[in-house]
Amino acid sequence: MLKVLLLGSTGLLGRAVKAEFEKYDLESPSRSELDVTDFASLESYFSDNSFDFVINCTGYNAVDDAEKPENHEEVFLHNEKVPEMLAKLCEAHNCTLVQFSSDYVFDGENADGYSEDASYDPINVYGQSKMAGEVAVAENCSKYFVIRMSWLFGPGFNCCK
Ligand SMILES: NC(=O)c1ccc[n+]([C@@H]2O[C@H](COP(=O)([O-])OP(=O)(O)OC[C@H]3O[C@@H](n4cnc5c(N)ncnc54)[C@H](OP(=O)(O)O)[C@@H]3O)[C@@H](O)[C@H]2O)c1
Repeated sequence: MLKVLLLGSTGLLGRAVKAEFEKYDLESPSRSELDVTDFASLESYFSDNSFDFVINCTGYNAVDDAEKPENHEEVFLHNEKVPEMLAKLCEAHNCTLVQFSSDYVFDGENADGYSEDASYDPINVYGQSKMAGEVAVAENCSKYFVIRMSWLFGPGFNCCK
């Protein structure tokens, strides 16, 4: 049976992914069990366990707050450095990484839509950080999926928080 590590399983996306993947051999540690920004803990978690797939549903997704200079370090930590670390660990441990990105990597001005390999053109810090995460995954991992999404909604969605 496929062994899957799901990160961010308490979030909007993570809860939905967890419901789909519970039929597999699924590990879904909470933030208090495995903080993805603690790279030493991540490394030892990968050394102690083996997975076929790692699905990263963590990320900094407060688009407006991401613009504030005092938040930039945290934005890039979550959206670039964490995916980069996961990509390196997946490469070292022969597993496939699933990373979620955003339509914000483009400026949205192309009326014909975008192909997968269209040139990046982010217009805000959030988009720049998601772009940096995509690039870091592609550069550090040979088996990966990057899934670009727009606005998520579903159970637990709070439009006004
Ligand atoms: N929401 C959207 O409309 C949207 C659109 C496009 C792309 N995306 C992308 O989709 C992904 C998931 O978004 P989402 O809306 O589901 O996010 P979310 O609801 O904010 O959930 C984030 C998840 O990450 C966990 N997390 C945060 N920091 C962590 C840390 N240091 N260590 C371990 N876990 C941590 C959170 O745990 P806690 O419960 O402990 O906080 C939570 O489970 C992100 O990459 C986001 O950029 C989202």
